[in-house]
Amino acid sequence: MFNALVMDKDEESGLASASVRQLTLDDLPHGDVTVAVEYSTVNYKDGLCLSPKGGGLVRAYPHVPGIDYAGTVEASSDARYKPGDKVVLTGWRVGEAHWGGYSQKTSAKADWLVPLPDGLDARRAMAVGTAGFTAMLAVMALEDHGLTPDRGPVLVTGAAGGVGSVATAILGHLGYQVAAVTGRPETGDYLKSLGATTIVPRDELNETTKRPLESETWAGCVDAVGGAMLARVLGQMKYGCSVAAVGLAGGAALPATVIPFLLRGVNLLGIDSVMQPYENRVRAWKRIATDLPMEKLEAMIQPAALSDLPQLGADILKGQVKGRVVVDVNT
Ligand SMILES: NC(=O)c1ccc[n+]([C@@H]2O[C@H](COP(=O)([O-])OP(=O)(O)OC[C@H]3O[C@@H](n4cnc5c(N)ncnc54)[C@H](OP(=O)(O)O)[C@@H]3O)[C@@H](O)[C@H]2O)c1
Repeated sequence: MFNALVMDKDEESGLASASVRQLTLDDLPHGDVTVAVEYSTVNYKDGLCLSPKGGGLVRAYPHVPGIDYAGTVEASSDARYKPGDKVVLTGWRVGEAHWGGYSQKTSAKADWLVPLPDGLDARRAMAVGTAGFTAMLAVMALEDHGLTPDRGPVLVTGAAGGVGSVATAILGHLGYQVAAVTGRPETGDYLKSLGATTIVPRDELNETTKRPLESETWAGCVDAVGGAMLARVLGQMKYGCSVAAVGLAGGAALPATVIPFLLRGVNLLGIDSVMQPYENRVRAWKRIATDLPMEKLEAMIQPAALSDLPQLGADILKGQVKGRVVVDVNT
């Protein structure tokens, strides 16, 4: 027997609710690898999957959410994995269309897993989670397009959130000047402790402007917000520099002009963590192990248990989660 957070749908109301239930191995879907999950986390998508209508992501009920997890292989029919191996999983619609990580046991396709790199245990891997993994992908994309610390300050939007916190810590560690945009002034000290050099109030960038170009300010940007803020940032980029578009916390529309692309050679780089090829996943997790200062990661951790998840899911949808929630599924 093992515990899992199961979402059941009430047929009458059509709404789903979550409860911690005891299941058996026979309940697990078929997969190449059975994993004893140790830790999971809470992402915006988890908040959607935990909501009564499943956020349009959950395909069928009963459902076990949790879009990422880390743990130990218990059994494997795939030669790449053996019992005792430490693994991490993000993406592939796990926790949305497939059984997720809010469970003490799970099964997965071997192709979906990544071996944990040296220097990263399961708890820290989930302090990083999909948000941190995506932040690393964004930094790698900016570097691949020429970003170096001497080119100038890098903007991080949604900085006190999961992606933003880890992006701030990685960039600070790599020697960048980091301007952290936040709508929560009380997180200023926290963001500075992570590596931010300047705090930019959200309102300064949320206002729309009719000017397609403003003064050239940023050498790079990790954008978790999208919407009007991303449109504004595009007009403030330095010549030939890039924005990594990661999220839509502020909206999916992009009310921008093409002028920054045409007159300043600005690049807008799309970042997708879900279908990311295996080689790049391995590269990103290795970079996380070396370039994310672990003591700063520890400072971001907010511990939680399976039973805390319904509330945390609601909190993250309201933008009220700071840093990284680490869910110990065995408590
Ligand atoms: N591309 C991918 O593969 C991928 C992977 C993971 C996440 N994402 C997306 O990236 C985004 C961030 O994810 P996360 O896990 O970091 O979420 P999160 O922890 O909820 O952080 C989002 C942050 O955005 C800011 N924010 C929220 N509402 C806003 C608004 N209306 N206007 C401006 N800023 C706002 C807040 O930061 P402050 O309080 O500091 O202002 C909030 O903490 C989400 O949209 C998520 O879906 C994409």
